[in-house]
Amino acid sequence: MSDSHSVSIFMGSKSDLPIVQAASDTLKAFEISHKMFILSAHRTPEEVVKRVKESEENGVKVFIAAAGMAAHLAGAIAAQTKKPVLGIPLGGGDLDGMDSLLATVQMPKGVPVATFAIGKSGAINAAICAAQIIGTSDDEMAKKLDEYKLKMRADVIEANESIQ
Ligand code: RP5
Repeated sequence: MSDSHSVSIFMGSKSDLPIVQAASDTLKAFEISHKMFILSAHRTPEEVVKRVKESEENGVKVFIAAAGMAAHLAGAIAAQTKKPVLGIPLGGGDLDGMDSLLATVQMPKGVPVATFAIGKSGAINAAICAAQIIGTSDDEMAKKLDEYKLKMRADVIEANESIQ
């Protein structure tokens, strides 16, 4: 395999990168190899198909897809693969992300897209979910997820104590 990685992140436009970067940073924190692609279901449909196939050849376990407005990218990827597809709806359009949320979540039966919150929280959670999927068959990853939860807990307890 020439370009082996575990997760492929697709985004519909370069304008999505500032939010999608949070998914990449989270994968990095879990030491998950990944590649990012700026490709659009509407503007570069053939290239999306090509890169999905190429990602599969490179051993990808999970796809993450982020798009705004009439967000068809996650669905277009799900149409091409049997790997899990995690969709991040993005805001920025006139409908503040409600358009992309509905476009991403309302998939017809048979072609699932696991859909996350609009924007940065969704980007981070999609990456954590990718770690969880990988962690189902990787003890090291499961351990990292335990540590992540413990740190979250400790941070909240510390914050609480700091205001007492
Ligand atoms: C979607 O349209 C992209 O994912 C982006 O969120 C939105 C606007 O794209 P640009 O016009 O900024 O390239 O396809």
